Amino acid sequence: MKKTRLLIMILTAAMIFAFPLSGCSKQNESEEPADAAAETETEAEAETEEGSVIDYMVLVNQSNQLPDGWEEALETTTITNSVGDEVYVESKAYEAYCKLKEAVEKDLEGYDKGEVRLELDSAYRSVAAQQKIVEDFTEKYGEDYVKKYVAVPGYSEHHTGLALDLYFTIDGKDIYENEDLVQYPDIWEAIHKRLPEFGFILRFTKEGEAITGYAYEPWHIRYLDNPEIAKEITDKGITLEEYLGK
Ligand code: DAL
Ligand code: ZN
Repeated sequence: MKKTRLLIMILTAAMIFAFPLSGCSKQNESEEPADAAAETETEAEAETEEGSVIDYMVLVNQSNQLPDGWEEALETTTITNSVGDEVYVESKAYEAYCKLKEAVEKDLEGYDKGEVRLELDSAYRSVAAQQKIVEDFTEKYGEDYVKKYVAVPGYSEHHTGLALDLYFTIDGKDIYENEDLVQYPDIWEAIHKRLPEFGFILRFTKEGEAITGYAYEPWHIRYLDNPEIAKEITDKGITLEEYLGK
């Protein structure tokens, strides 16, 4: 009996190591408030009980800052992506992302360049994290690029936890850098097609550049928690600014 139990334990451990869990499995996630380091669990629960509610239609853009108190109300799920980075995502947006990932990966089965797996590069970012990106990207790509692709700290939709930057792996190889990601318009098309049904929109479209102020970003999607609105925005080919009349 003891030997059998030992054998089961060894087999289970072997399976865990042989088949690493994908980003949307429960075992490499944890749920916590965005500023977990500064809060005890009791404080976080109290916040939820008091009924802090996220406005999923919030507009954060070049002229609208993150609303006060947002980060205190935000609950995130933490995952580790394929390049080993921790990513923090608003919890409901994360659930929707997992469904999107499953659908897109199924759609792309048989893709001629190999097996495609969707990954999360970045979602919630603090003001300090955004500042670091501004500095790193200025060094790597220059100021002109940063103006087109990176928000001023305090004005990034990433502060909400509702904006997700995607990347993917093909046959286990990370396609991660922006200049590599844009080489796969067919994969982006497959991803974009599925966004509205899970409550997401493509936030920085080619057509919307003059309104959003940012260049086309095929990787940056925004969760609205409302498939009907996401579909309306997508079908009309308008920006979130236009939908909200701002
Ligand atoms: N890439 C988008 C504009 C941001 O930095 O929030
Ligand atoms: Zn982004």
